[in-house]
Formats: sequence, C-alpha cells, structure tokens
Amino acid sequence: MWQTRKAWLKDWAAPVPEGLHTPLQTAEFEARQVGAPVSFTVDKAAGESYTIGQAGDGWQITGGEAGVLYGVYALAHGLKTGKIPQGRQAPFYALRMINAWDNMDGTVERGYAGRSMWFEGGAFSYDPARIRQLGRLLASVGINTLCVNNVNVHQPAQHLVDTLLPDLAAFAELLRPFGVRLMISIDFSLPLQYGLPTADPMDAAVAAWWADRARAVWQAIPDLAGFLVKADSEHRPGPNAYGRTHAEGANMLARAIAPYGGVLVWRAFVYNCMQDWRDTKTDRPCAAYDLYRPLDGQFDGNVILQVKHGPFDFQVREPLSPLLLGMKNTAMDIEFQLAQEYTGHQIDLYAMPPMWREVFDQMGKERVRAIAAVSNLGRDENWVGHPFAMLNLFAYGRFAWNPDEDAEDVIRQWVKMTYDMCPDDENSLMKLLLNSRTVYEKYTAPLGLCWMVRPGDHYGPSPYGYEFDAWGTYNRASRDAVGIDRTEKGTGYAAQYPAELKALYEDPAQCPDEMLLFFHRLPYDHIMRDGRTLIQRIYDDHFEGCEETERMRDALAALSLPEPDRTEVMERMEMQIANAREWRDIVNTFFHRFSGVDDAQGRKIFE
Ligand code: GCU
Repeated sequence: MWQTRKAWLKDWAAPVPEGLHTPLQTAEFEARQVGAPVSFTVDKAAGESYTIGQAGDGWQITGGEAGVLYGVYALAHGLKTGKIPQGRQAPFYALRMINAWDNMDGTVERGYAGRSMWFEGGAFSYDPARIRQLGRLLASVGINTLCVNNVNVHQPAQHLVDTLLPDLAAFAELLRPFGVRLMISIDFSLPLQYGLPTADPMDAAVAAWWADRARAVWQAIPDLAGFLVKADSEHRPGPNAYGRTHAEGANMLARAIAPYGGVLVWRAFVYNCMQDWRDTKTDRPCAAYDLYRPLDGQFDGNVILQVKHGPFDFQVREPLSPLLLGMKNTAMDIEFQLAQEYTGHQIDLYAMPPMWREVFDQMGKERVRAIAAVSNLGRDENWVGHPFAMLNLFAYGRFAWNPDEDAEDVIRQWVKMTYDMCPDDENSLMKLLLNSRTVYEKYTAPLGLCWMVRPGDHYGPSPYGYEFDAWGTYNRASRDAVGIDRTEKGTGYAAQYPAELKALYEDPAQCPDEMLLFFHRLPYDHIMRDGRTLIQRIYDDHFEGCEETERMRDALAALSLPEPDRTEVMERMEMQIANAREWRDIVNTFFHRFSGVDDAQGRKIFE
C-alpha cells in the first residue's frame, strides 16, 4: 500500500480508507488525526467556507459540505503552526485549478516527478489508494479542481468525451469525497475525427455535435467542472482555420456546456511559433494582447480566458502579462507553472511564493476570477522529485484560497508543518528558500534576459539555442549590445500597459533592473544605476549566483533534515551546483566573445 511520507501531510501517513463518499465523511475520518474531539455542523449554503470554534475540550467546525473538510485541515495545520484561523474563512477564488499535463501513454509533459499517477499505456491506470491520497493532498490546501489531461490532447485522450467516459467517471468518484472536481482538456477539431466535414464553430452541425457530447459527458459526470482548450496555439487546431475569432470558437463550446453549469477555460497562450528570426517587427510578447484585446466583452458568461502570468512562457523573470491589466470585460484566470520547466526541473531549488506575491501586488487580485497552475506532481514516491518542490504546491493552494497571503509567512508554515526543526535550522532553511529564486535568476538569466535555455528540454544554458529558431524568442546579442527594444521606438510592446507602467518600462533609467533587457536593447558599456557597466553586471551575477549555490550546499548540509529527504536534497544540490557552473561559464564566455570586455575582477572566463 502506498503511503504519504511527504510534507505537511506526514501526520496523515495512514491511508485514506475506501468507502468515504462525501467531504463530510472524509472530514470525520480526518478529524481523528487532530488529537481532540471535533464535531461538525453542515450548512449547505456555506459552500466552501467554514468557521472553527472551541467546544469544551475539543473543536466545532461549521461550514458547507466542502467547507467542513477544509476546516478540519485548517485546524490540524493551525495546531501545528500555532495559527488557527479565526472567524469565517472563505476562498477568494471559486475555481482553484491544478492543470495536469499528463498524457495517456503515461508520460507527463514537462513532468519532473516521474510518470503519470493515473494514466499508463493509453488507459486510466492507478492505485486507488494513491488517488485518495492525492485527493487529500489537494483538499488539504483548498484546491478544488483537477484537469486530468494535457492541454496538448494526444491519443487516445480525445476519447475522454465518449468511450473513456466510464473510466473518467470512476476517477471522478475517487476524488469527489475530497471536494475535488475534474476538468478535461479537449481538442477543438474533434468533430473532424467523428466524420464531420468541418470543425467550424459557426457550423450548426458542429455546434449540435458538441451539444450532444456535452450531454453525454455531464450525464456520466454531473459535477464535471468544464473543458480546458488550447486552440490555435503551437500547432493545435482552433477557430482561426475557419476564419473565426477566438470569441466565436470559445462561445460555441461554452454554449454546449452551459446547461450543465460547465465552464469553458480558453487559453490565451497564442503566438506565431513559425516566426522568421530575421523579422524584427514581430514580437512574441505582443501577440496575445493584439489578438484578445479587441475581443474584450465578446465572450460568454461561462468562458474564462486563461492567461499565463507573463507574456512569454513562465520564464524566470517576466513582466506581468498586459492582458491581465487590459481585459476589463472578460473573465480571466491567471496561470502559474508549478512544474519547474524553466526554473530548474525540480532539481534546482526555486521557491515561487515571492514571485506570486509580486504578481498579485501588481495586478490586483480582483482582476482575475479564477486561478490555475500547471502541476508539478508525478508518480515519484515523494510526489514532486525535489522534496522542497512540495512547498510550491502547498503555497499555490494557499494563494489560491487567499491571494493576500504573505510569501514568507506561507513558506514558514510549510517548513513548520513539514519538518520538526530547531529555530536556527528553521531560519536557515527559510533563508535558503526565500533566496532561491534570486540565486537561480542570477546564474541563469539576470536582467530579464529570457530564453538562453537548451531547446527542447529547457534545462541548462544555450545562449544560441533559440536564437535562429522559429519560436520568437531571441536575445539578439551582438558585439555591441544585447536585448530587445520593446519601447515605442522598438516593437511597441510597452504600449500595451497602462500609462504609468508604460512610462516606467519605456525609460531605461527607471525600468527595474530585473526587467532591463526585456524592455531595452543596451550597449555593454551602459552604466547601471549602481554604477557598474551592463557587461560587468552580467558577469557579476553569474559569478555570484554560482558561488551562492555552493553556500547553499553548506547551509543545507548543516540542517537536521530527516532521511530520505536529506539524501535527495543533497543529491539535487550537487546537480544544481554543476548546472550553475555550466550557466556561469557558458553565458560569461558567450558575452566575452562578443564584447571583448574582460571581467573587472579578473575572474576566469573561458575562451
Ligand atoms: C510551453 C511548454 C509546452 C506547453 C506550452 C503550453 O511552451 O514548453 O510544453 O505545451 O508551454 O503552455 O501550452
């Protein structure tokens, strides 16, 4: 029997038994772990909200059907961290999704924690005990929706809307007692595969076909949350093939699923992935705004436009997507990526909460109606590959419930719940986690320089890797300068922001350092605010970032981490150091060869 050994759930190592059917039954079972009597009052109208009160020598939890379950986890967490939530607690976002990029052949796109937990060999294939543990994992931080298959819908996931429905329903059944509803990714061109001559969203037969499918799907899984669609994006089919807009495409599907309360999550990750690198006018970050802004207000009420937090693709550092500030009449959700595709493959340490804090501070939590994150989970015994990567799932759940969370506070809660450490060790680990993003950024891509990663797997440095490719991802380094001018004089991207932000980004003297080369093309002798030249700053960051990984190793080695976490963490730390050296040497050499400028401190730069 598979057991949870990880993270804040270690107190619930005991398997979840079969035979729980409702969140209340699950809550009653989980309450046994609390160590004091807990009684429940369910008020259906309270939905996902709950209130925890003291009752004699035990506790009283009042809430909606899922609310009581969230309440019992919050109580257990609170007893551990000393912070029991006071007063009525309710989630800020009603839809709090994990998007799994699991394929039915068992692989996980951008997965760094093993194979899929529920697909193998073209079919559903899982240990039900582990899926119940997954339900507990998600519910314990308030995640209520799981999209089960990759946004790139590969064979035979097309059949999730027909022959695979009984299997999907059985899977949904396992997660229902945890208040977790399913969603599925669908392929826009599906009608073609069923003999229709077209998938044109304005064709009545196509709309009728989808309406019929929706009826069958919701008959099998009445509480399915909805469909997720990647259309006209990276070679996926979409409405553009028929000369239709994305509003027309999304609305047709939305109408098919509206009678059942389904939501249509439509991804805004659309750009020209067949760009000619010689073309300096086309600028990939501009693409989504240019496409969707004119459609603002045209989407049906049950459509949610899913927008990645930055205009590129989950790079180490990107400005906020201007769509998130500009689409005033469209329901949107913000998409984060827990899977560490560009942030170290769950080998390198990278704690995400500080980034999310910045995003919400800049955007305002009200700008989006829902929240999604690409899963970092897999079949690995510890779920996530790197034991500390669990922090990102935990913190995501917390931010999804309450986007006002303080990054440091959330990280500390996770540390306290996960490890029994003395205060010194706890503080040392806190420091490591809080700095991890900055360290990673320094040795990989400082100053907003994106896409120097190895093409394909996206781990390790390759400054030329994407330079002459079709993906629209260039640094355009020359012997004199580096970066892209995205001001009005350049590609005009900065003009997609509201006036104040535009003014900030347009001016290299005001533009935040970490975004400087995202917005500007600057000569190597450009003087930075701190007096250093740009080239010296590039060298310094790479040297410092790499040195810091060695200090991180020493700090980690001194921590009293339990096994097997300790071994796993130290092994990955060595890999991270090796990675940081590669980044330092390759990127520094790259720029030294171009610029011919030596390091002012005379450190080793290879020829
Ligand atoms: C990135 C990633 C792909 C993924 C895509 C998406 O481009 O590399 O694997 O399919 O994002 O978000 O759709």
